[in-house]
Amino acid sequence: MALYQPGLGFYETGGAAGRRGDFLTSPEVGPLFGAVMARALDQWWRELGEPATFTVAEAGAGRGTLAKAILAAGPACRDALRYLAVERSASLRAGHPEGVEVTASMPTEPFVGVVLANELLDNLPFGLLERRQGGWAEVRVTADLVETLVSVGDAPEGHLAPDAPVGSRIPTQPAAQAWVEAARRLVERGRVVVVDYADSTPSMARRPWTEWVRTYRGHGRGSSPLSDLGGQDLTCEVAADQLPAPGTDRSQADFLRAHGIEEIVTEARQAWEERAHIGDLQALMARSRIGEAAALTDATGLGGFRVLEWVQGE
Ligand SMILES: C[S@@+](CC[C@H](N)C(=O)[O-])C[C@H]1O[C@@H](n2cnc3c(N)ncnc32)[C@H](O)[C@@H]1O
Repeated sequence: MALYQPGLGFYETGGAAGRRGDFLTSPEVGPLFGAVMARALDQWWRELGEPATFTVAEAGAGRGTLAKAILAAGPACRDALRYLAVERSASLRAGHPEGVEVTASMPTEPFVGVVLANELLDNLPFGLLERRQGGWAEVRVTADLVETLVSVGDAPEGHLAPDAPVGSRIPTQPAAQAWVEAARRLVERGRVVVVDYADSTPSMARRPWTEWVRTYRGHGRGSSPLSDLGGQDLTCEVAADQLPAPGTDRSQADFLRAHGIEEIVTEARQAWEERAHIGDLQALMARSRIGEAAALTDATGLGGFRVLEWVQGE
């Protein structure tokens, strides 16, 4: 409700990713992320035998920035491409680029292609468990927004972190797990690709929970998750070991390198060297690409995000 309640939730009342928004995601850094993703889509389209209709359902598409960059890159698959931007917040569904179908929910009919989600799973509802002497307690919240611990004894997620110290917390992410399962069912042939900040349940048990449950507002950290409900973004790092096991799990930096970010940057560097003295738009765009690449592959920032892929119908 803090994020999505019509009229009250953060995303329903103007909250968003972007330079003018509240936090910066990879597509919002600039068009380079989409240009590399366009190359990845071409590779996956070719691997599928260049189907006449290649559906890409981008879930949590926000204002459509990634869609715009992918289309602007002119992918080889463009004539086959049916791009669905799936965004649950009505206020973000306006203003998407031409050539994109904008919808509030995922399609119901299975398709050949890709389900893509950048920073969606961290924005799905999650639970919290706290380790007590004799077992686990669920962290619940009373109607007046005070935490209360309810003993649950055994909990399946607890088995993932058997050595969790007393007092430590772990997330439970049934919504993220169900989302991945549903996305996989939707792809008849192709893949589900999820990009997000992720860790594992035992590792999160060893970290302070306030480090992996985070709030954002106006490009800074927000306040406690229970204050200013609807006024700030509320996210939880993804416990990847609670999801179905992916076929591939690599860092965003490795994913982008595998799909040619370095080639694009080499071209940009040449263009910058040739045109820096002219200082025209092309020169500035080239310089900006070099800076974008550094941000997208920075291992301590966006480059350290995980890219999880599930291949379907092999
Ligand atoms: C952190 S933002 C990321 C936006 C964009 N993907 C980006 O990387 O800039 C998460 C987005 O997912 C949307 N969202 C959350 N749950 C959703 C769902 N079940 N279906 C579609 N969109 C959803 C939110 O409204 C929000 O716009």
